[in-house]
Amino acid sequence: MADNTPWTTEIQPPPGRKTKLSLPNQTTANPPVFNDAMIVRTRVFIDEQNCSPEGEIDSDDARSWQWVLYASESESESETTNPIAVIRLVPPPHPPHDLLTCPDTASASTGNLPKYDWVHEPCIKLTRVAVMPGYRGKGLGRRLVEIALAWASSHAREIDDAAAKLAAESNESASLKKWQGLVLVHAQVDVEKMYGGLGFQTDKELGKWDEEGIDHVGMFKRIDISH
Ligand SMILES: CC(C)(COP(=O)(O)OP(=O)(O)OC[C@H]1O[C@@H](n2cnc3c(N)ncnc32)[C@H](O)[C@@H]1OP(=O)(O)O)[C@@H](O)C(=O)NCCC(=O)NCCS
Repeated sequence: MADNTPWTTEIQPPPGRKTKLSLPNQTTANPPVFNDAMIVRTRVFIDEQNCSPEGEIDSDDARSWQWVLYASESESESETTNPIAVIRLVPPPHPPHDLLTCPDTASASTGNLPKYDWVHEPCIKLTRVAVMPGYRGKGLGRRLVEIALAWASSHAREIDDAAAKLAAESNESASLKKWQGLVLVHAQVDVEKMYGGLGFQTDKELGKWDEEGIDHVGMFKRIDISH
């Protein structure tokens, strides 16, 4: 890709629990932008990083926003638009951190651990950041993080509404707190430097844990928000 390749972004709002989401194929009922997101996620996480296909779509997908970045490229005489990068923003709440760092202990005491952490300050989580291999190193990963954070800073009400909706749907007694601009990433250790460059700081108290065979660390950043 030449560095002046025209690119555009599309946002996928939370599809909702009633939409059946699946990996991309010809008979999918996925919303189109969600499907494009899955084309990139499948290529990067399943094909390249060997993550399990079963775990790629998780319970967060129905309640999250995603942005897909497209490149317009000329092939012979026609122009094609291809999805080349993706990022997902998961609203609060998230599972208790112990479920990740001490799964054995946590599962032994599952009865004591709620499905979601309603106690700590709410944060949004940026996940599933992926750029197609041929497009890396051109600033697209950074751009996607910036796009998602800029959107979040002016959509705090939607983020609070999403958390309230989950609280209403779950059987857990939730104490709802407003989102105050805290952003979390679970960074693959190889990518810790990239998030550091974007203003995220590693929280050593969260430790290091294995997800899909890849070591991760937790990093936070606080952004300004307008309610
Ligand atoms: C990680 C990934 C999204 C980065 O996308 P990208 O478009 O190549 O990143 P950018 O070009 O925007 O780089 C942004 C910054 O991060 C740095 N960076 C990017 N990838 C990096 C890596 N793997 N290790 C260290 N630094 C990295 C760049 O040097 C750049 O720094 P700068 O702004 O100081 O110049 C991409 O490599 C990818 O899809 N990897 C596979 C999936 C993955 O690991 N996702 C992360 C899950 S936590």
